[in-house]
Amino acid sequence: MKMGFIMKTTFSILKADVGGWPGHASVHPDLKKIANKQLAVAVKSKVLIDYHVTSCGDDLELIMTHTNGVDAKEVHSLAWDTFCEATEKARDLGLYGAGQDLLSDAFSGNIRGMGPGIAEMEFTERKAEPVVAFMMDKTEPGAFNFPIFKIFADPFNTAGLIIDPSCHDGFVFEVWDILQHKHVKLNTPEEMYDLLALIGAKSRFVVKRVFPKKTSKLPATEPVAVISSEKLYQIAGEYVGKDDPAGVVRAQSGLPALGEVLEGFSLGHLVSGWMRGSHNGPLMPVAVKDAKCTRFDGPPRVIALGFQLKNGKLTEPVDLFDDPAFDHTRVEAQHITDYMRRHGPFEPHRLPMEDMEYTTLPKVMKALGPRFKKTK
Ligand code: F6R
Ligand code: MG
Ligand code: MG
Repeated sequence: MKMGFIMKTTFSILKADVGGWPGHASVHPDLKKIANKQLAVAVKSKVLIDYHVTSCGDDLELIMTHTNGVDAKEVHSLAWDTFCEATEKARDLGLYGAGQDLLSDAFSGNIRGMGPGIAEMEFTERKAEPVVAFMMDKTEPGAFNFPIFKIFADPFNTAGLIIDPSCHDGFVFEVWDILQHKHVKLNTPEEMYDLLALIGAKSRFVVKRVFPKKTSKLPATEPVAVISSEKLYQIAGEYVGKDDPAGVVRAQSGLPALGEVLEGFSLGHLVSGWMRGSHNGPLMPVAVKDAKCTRFDGPPRVIALGFQLKNGKLTEPVDLFDDPAFDHTRVEAQHITDYMRRHGPFEPHRLPMEDMEYTTLPKVMKALGPRFKKTK
């Protein structure tokens, strides 16, 4: 959107699982080829300024920059058409679950609610604008709650909250109640305990955006982080694959430094998703080349691509978790994987009953129903 003379940039990640190779493990290169071709055409026709296509697990990820603002019809229809063409290819190749995340046949101007995940934000570029695109597989939007809290509100993670005057006032978190379709804005550090009371319940409350405060030198209305919050089971009404999320985080000069942003992912924290969308397990930060889900369809993974942005143009990405500094987190995640796996079908490896509601378990329970006798 053009505002006066200031051109704002929109950074969009639109993602979908349109077919796995093999099973739900990864994305076939032919699907990425289609996406690259479609988005290159969109740059020529000036719908996009720039793009980068990648994948995380079985999710095809379209990273795009443009000046059309969030929820722009031309960008969403471009993504939709790309996912549809990739689905056709997936069908030709016999890939698994072709078109899995495309839950509607008719595109009506906005991809929201149609299956794909969306993380978009529009902002005024600073003189130098570092942006990180995070993409996860085999988990849900609430998996971002922990690292986003660490990055923007925990001084033990982000030194800048203490020692950088331009971070010192803290940030504003927009939290969505994804069951009741409501949202609330909470200020940190003042309302940190209220924030944690909500976002600790990560299957229901998700951090959607983070904003600078009014006292910041950055515009308080422009997000500095955004997370996709689509819950596929709520859209489809039944389990159709997990809602593997994506997020965008801006860094440096008045915001957490790049290293403080990445530090938020150094625990290998426990997230929900993994096998059959029904298990808790550690989130393992990996290089793009390792972003394929194998053991027990996981463990859940996150990749991070870092860009510098200039007038909407992207530099080549840096594969930020492709670094020995994250080896320890990965090894630890594998120990946690062993430990969690040994629990088999027992909670808390398997999700609690209320989170199993949209899986295939209720069908099994239904069959048992008539055999239950009243306990006296
Ligand atoms: C999790 C995921 C996989 C599948 C599992 C069973 O997000 O996609 O773990 O749930 O492989 O898949 P189906 O039911 O397709 O055989
Ligand atoms: Mg899949
Ligand atoms: Mg996936």
